[in-house]
Amino acid sequence: MIELDQVQKSYQVGDRAIPALHPTDLTIDTGEVFGIVGHSGAGKSTLVRLINLLERPTGGRVLVDGEDVTHYDAAELRAFRRKVGMIFQHFNLLSSRTVADNIAFPMKLAGIYSKAEIRDRVAELLALVSLTDQGNKYPSQLSGGQKQRVGIARALACRPTILLCDEATSALDPQTTQSVLRLLAEINRELGLTIVLITHEMDVVRRICDRVAVMDGGRIVEMGAVTDVFLHPEHPTTRDFVFESENVDRDELQQDLQHAPGRILRLTFRGESTYKPLLGHVARQSGVDFSILSGRIDHIKDTPYGQLTLSLVGGNLDQAMAEFEAADVHVEVVR
Ligand SMILES: Nc1ncnc2c1ncn2[C@@H]1O[C@H](COP(=O)(O)OP(=O)(O)O)[C@@H](O)[C@H]1O
Ligand SMILES: [Mg+2]
Repeated sequence: MIELDQVQKSYQVGDRAIPALHPTDLTIDTGEVFGIVGHSGAGKSTLVRLINLLERPTGGRVLVDGEDVTHYDAAELRAFRRKVGMIFQHFNLLSSRTVADNIAFPMKLAGIYSKAEIRDRVAELLALVSLTDQGNKYPSQLSGGQKQRVGIARALACRPTILLCDEATSALDPQTTQSVLRLLAEINRELGLTIVLITHEMDVVRRICDRVAVMDGGRIVEMGAVTDVFLHPEHPTTRDFVFESENVDRDELQQDLQHAPGRILRLTFRGESTYKPLLGHVARQSGVDFSILSGRIDHIKDTPYGQLTLSLVGGNLDQAMAEFEAADVHVEVVR
């Protein structure tokens, strides 16, 4: 659905060309929620703004639904942009217009909708984002979460098939973030919209994305299903993001590990195996004694997972590891 083919972007600053995105290949499938995570300056906004051609690539091709959109003329580009909605960190609402007028704005701009169509669509969208009785208010009268709901409604006004979200929850508190993410997940599920979501928080990716690309220095350094990337990060940048999202103090963890006796294993449970009473069973079978150094059970989108770091002494360790693996538990030897 969205295909970047060796797309690159450098910004001309004075007589210097500053590379923001090195040549990048990327395919995003119809109907998926695709996350892009990276630190500030990694090139995330540049990448996403190349998808709707808010930035022109310095090289390469952007294909949407198989069509090279980089060569569109002005009229084709206007029609194309209606297919791609966007929401922003600071909402970018027009402060002098009401909520309803903000939502109607892109439809009026398009010049192809009747007054009645616009009125009906605005009512429908207000209901979708749970703001039915707020249409006559002004943005300044709304909370951050409500403002972003207006942003979402406005982005959906012309019935796009793609929604780009640039740090859409970064200005919101954790609870409001949750509710906006739930709304985005619902829109993805019920309207089948493809969502590309930029964030600097791995937790946002974990909650709603199917796949993720990790960016660093203008490149994608790791990419894959969120379950794989989140549970088994490989690139140092990805590891940093995962640790950060788990609130793990690495120095503290290192100290705990030093004091723990025996072998140290990190077990990863996914899906069904997350809830199995496996530890006691393996301990009895193999005679291994264990203590839990750290542990967590949570969800990646709809998939439950658990991660445990154990210290093991005595018994038959090989047998214990074999039994974990036989139960579909991923075993990593930490020490
Ligand atoms: N309009 C611009 N002119 C010059 N440099 C820019 C411009 N926009 C972005 N950059 C530079 O490109 C790099 C990537 O920026 P950006 O895509 O905004 O990163 P992110 O969204 O990950 O924070 C940064 O080094 C940034 O300073
Ligand atoms: Mg950015």
